[in-house]
Amino acid sequence: MIERTLVLVKPDGVQRLLVGRILTRYEERGLKLVALKLVSVDRRLADRHYAVHRERPFFRGLVEFITSGPVVALVLEGPDAVAVVRAMNGATRPAQADPGTIRGDLALETAQNLVHASDSPETAEAELALWFRPEELVDYAREVDRWVLAPAEA
Ligand code: CMP
Repeated sequence: MIERTLVLVKPDGVQRLLVGRILTRYEERGLKLVALKLVSVDRRLADRHYAVHRERPFFRGLVEFITSGPVVALVLEGPDAVAVVRAMNGATRPAQADPGTIRGDLALETAQNLVHASDSPETAEAELALWFRPEELVDYAREVDRWVLAPAEA
């Protein structure tokens, strides 16, 4: 099933100069970049993005962190993109993230865990709409897809 998912490289990823290396991992896997931008996140967007965590004790810290510097927001597309990207990111808590994942290789703390990705296709749909206007999602063909995707999906 071809899916789309929202990814954020959080302020720690931007400040640690890891944007290129993180995007390279998704690109090399074969995922298709559908949208990409650098965003200064305001309070309203942060509140809406983390609305499901509103009652958690760490909510305030989450909002402070995501608004503390620019983030890179992107949309990736591919077969089972939601699960694929979450597996590539690794467990939310970096101590539990497997080596070879972004967090398992590059992060140590739960708050500073470098990336966010949608946790289900339904969440992805809502998060895409929150972070991107429809015209920011770019429709284009990739020659490489005949080598990356099964014939029915290319
Ligand atoms: P993210 O995928 O952005 O979605 C929610 C975030 O909450 C998660 O990544 C973590 O960065 C953060 N988070 C989860 N649990 C905790 C916690 N106990 N303390 C601080 N931050 C947390």
